[in-house]
Amino acid sequence: MKYYYLLIIGVLLIIGALLISLFYFGEQKNQFFKLVDICQDRHTIECRTDQLPYNNPKLPLEKRVDDLLSRMTLPEKIGQMMLIERNSLKNDNDIALYGLGGLLSGMGSKPDLDTPEGWLSMVNEYGRISKTTRLGIPVLYGADAIHGHTNIKEATAFPHFIGLGATGDVELVKKVALATTQELAASAIYWNFSPNVDVLGDPRWGRFYESFGSDPSLVTRLGVAYLEGIAAYDSSPYHPIGTAKHFIGAGAMLWGTSVNKNFKIDQGESDISLDELRQRHLPSFKAAIAAGVPSVMIGLNNWQNKKISENQYLITDVLKKEMGFSGFVISDWYGAYEIENNKYKATVTAVNAGIDMIMLPFEYKRFMADIQTAVDKGDISQERIDDAVARILKVKFQIGLFDNLNYNPAAIADIGSAEHRAIAREAVSKSIVILKNEKQLIPISKFSKKIYVAGDAADNLGIQLGGWSVEWQGINGNWTPGTTILDGIREVVSPQVNLVYNKDGNFNDNSKLADIGIMVVGEKPYAEGWGDKEDLSLSDNDLEIIDKLKKNSKKIIVIIISGRPLVIKNEIKNWDATVAAWLPGSEGAGVADIIFGNKPITGKLPVNWSL
Ligand code: BGC
Repeated sequence: MKYYYLLIIGVLLIIGALLISLFYFGEQKNQFFKLVDICQDRHTIECRTDQLPYNNPKLPLEKRVDDLLSRMTLPEKIGQMMLIERNSLKNDNDIALYGLGGLLSGMGSKPDLDTPEGWLSMVNEYGRISKTTRLGIPVLYGADAIHGHTNIKEATAFPHFIGLGATGDVELVKKVALATTQELAASAIYWNFSPNVDVLGDPRWGRFYESFGSDPSLVTRLGVAYLEGIAAYDSSPYHPIGTAKHFIGAGAMLWGTSVNKNFKIDQGESDISLDELRQRHLPSFKAAIAAGVPSVMIGLNNWQNKKISENQYLITDVLKKEMGFSGFVISDWYGAYEIENNKYKATVTAVNAGIDMIMLPFEYKRFMADIQTAVDKGDISQERIDDAVARILKVKFQIGLFDNLNYNPAAIADIGSAEHRAIAREAVSKSIVILKNEKQLIPISKFSKKIYVAGDAADNLGIQLGGWSVEWQGINGNWTPGTTILDGIREVVSPQVNLVYNKDGNFNDNSKLADIGIMVVGEKPYAEGWGDKEDLSLSDNDLEIIDKLKKNSKKIIVIIISGRPLVIKNEIKNWDATVAAWLPGSEGAGVADIIFGNKPITGKLPVNWSL
């Protein structure tokens, strides 16, 4: 009998739980009540959009935007304001169901078929799905091609920006940007989250290598050159775009102020006055806007103890009104939700501050519900939504996403092409800075009898590429096509040279000393806050190898592969020559072009390096 009662209570509990969850999920579903209508059949009246004014490429841009905007429902507008990481899609059809405005690949997020063909078909398929909505608004796909389209291992990896900064070469930077754009477009991606126009400060920052330097005028010149290179792309009906980032003052963050417990500088406080913010950090953005950059990304840093992404004064008053930015503003990764814990309030604040497209990058269902509620309650005005969406649509029209569907797969041959690798090699050689050159040791004679090469980094593409290379944090080792510094040395020296490589510097063969010993030291790859590092001196292991090399060589050259100036003050006096090679990317052979004199030395320090 006792068990009988227990059974009844159990059954009642289960029924109760079922009813509660049905009610709860019903409520949840109700919150996302209005989604975007999908067209099963383009012949039905409500789905015949081809004749509508916004689809007429002959009409002026503003007319097309106005026409489309006037036809959109609130959910369709909210959809356009979302930027979602592709791995967050519960189902690819959600692109249409939620009318997503933007999709991105966070570095390391790749299709199952991770080949150039696989990338192209993935991005094309996302585009096709987005066009199945009632109004057929195409999704905009974005990626970080910050030193080439290094989402793909076959792509050309150019030097990271710090190296391009050392070249100071406007024409070269344009060529790099154009080649990158061609490789990206070969995956049907027309939106690059680049150029980074941060003005650098503390070298202990893990993002130091992502910018051109610490001189605002250098950053400005090369940032504009990069945008001009993107704009020079003309081999298809599309007009790809760049993104000026990270607005603003990210380079001024202070050590020890990060809000992220794992980091030290990144996502920290830019503790500077408004005057300094304006004088040092604004010009590169101003120039990017004058050069027509259509999207600006807001940094994850704080200023005056507030996230920049909540700063209406900086985003709306300064960027949009004062500087006349008419493109669209995006937040950075999870940037809106970092404003405060209450996600609803954080979203409202970010949108009201002036952010037009939110890199959520995960929770699109919740965002749709939150903005619906915010508009219903009057927390966000309809005008703000319309302004944000009009800005986004305008850029989509400009890129040509509405007017073109077909893509030429032959462009895949651009990815990692010999022509692009030649540009990268030229960029590497122009980026090399000679920090010390006693008795003009460099250029080394190609006919030296015996050359020793040491250091794991001498033969390591992963170290050359650094972070943002197929994986966010980069990948150590030789996993991608390209040439290492050692390959370059082998290529340029005369066949008679006795060239010996030993990564650990073990050359004790009791024979004569080498004429030259070349040591290559390198930082292991890192990205963002994970690269914040207090002690930038060389490791004991590297110093030991240098010692061994020195004992076995008449003269030594130390080549440093790094994203920032390392601390070598105490050691440099023991070396005959020292070379900064930055993060040269896939064409390491460009380093040998300089140290063996095939190319003239032109690189200059883009940042201070105290020696
Ligand atoms: C970085 C941005 C980048 C974005 C998308 C963020 O973590 O701060 O620079 O564009 O991720 O990958």
